[in-house]
Amino acid sequence: MGFGVRAVVALAALAVASAECPNACSGHGTCTFFDECDCNQGYMANDCSERICPFGFAHVDGAKGDLDGDEQVTTATPVVVGSQMYPVGAVEGVDATVDDSAHAYMECSNKGICDRTTGTCKCFPAYEGYACQRASCPAVDGKMCGGHGVCRTVRELANGDYSNDYELWDADKGMACDCDPGYSGFNCSERECPIGVDPLYRDDTEIEPRYPIWTFSSCCRSAAVNAIASICRHGCGIAYFVSYY
Ligand SMILES: *[C@@H]1O[C@H](CO)[C@@H](O)[C@H](O)[C@H]1NC(C)=O
Repeated sequence: MGFGVRAVVALAALAVASAECPNACSGHGTCTFFDECDCNQGYMANDCSERICPFGFAHVDGAKGDLDGDEQVTTATPVVVGSQMYPVGAVEGVDATVDDSAHAYMECSNKGICDRTTGTCKCFPAYEGYACQRASCPAVDGKMCGGHGVCRTVRELANGDYSNDYELWDADKGMACDCDPGYSGFNCSERECPIGVDPLYRDDTEIEPRYPIWTFSSCCRSAAVNAIASICRHGCGIAYFVSYY
């Protein structure tokens, strides 16, 4: 009987020893059935030796195709749930009837290459962020917007332009320079001259632009302009009227 117990223990030890995963899952996963590594979140490859980079909404993407090999491309239901790259699954196709369906969550937002040893995104030019999730503003001599502007999101730029609302998918990802007064161009490197009405514009018989003529006069209580400039009714001051040419 004593021998029988020992034999069972020995067999069990043999079974554990035979589950041998590649590279011992590099210390970043658990060895499971069929000598297969179950990698910790953020690690991939058969021995869990490679890093997965941060994800962001893809700036540009397309259908991923038949991810689960069932010879069908589904557009609504996520497949390959629990896989290394897509723990919550991914949609194989693009449903054109759904808004923004082609901006799926993608590694490095599809605008960078993942460095598999460090797990950091190397973004393509004009994109930045830990997951390359936003566009970058142009720099001149290392200064963003040439040092003469502020980098803003599309939402902010639209809002600054007569309080427009911009609510599309890239509202906080598209960026552009908001140039300081007197500067223009996409990198704010161009100077702006004062703007006025073209003197020849009035020659056009169809269009009569109106521009203001400001008339200033200083006055005191007794001055003749009292009647029209209320500021002068109470003492001395500057009165002005605007008429249109
Ligand atoms: C800045 O923009 C101007 C055009 O507005 C362009 O000619 C110039 O090359 C740009 N500079 C850089 C460093 O991109």
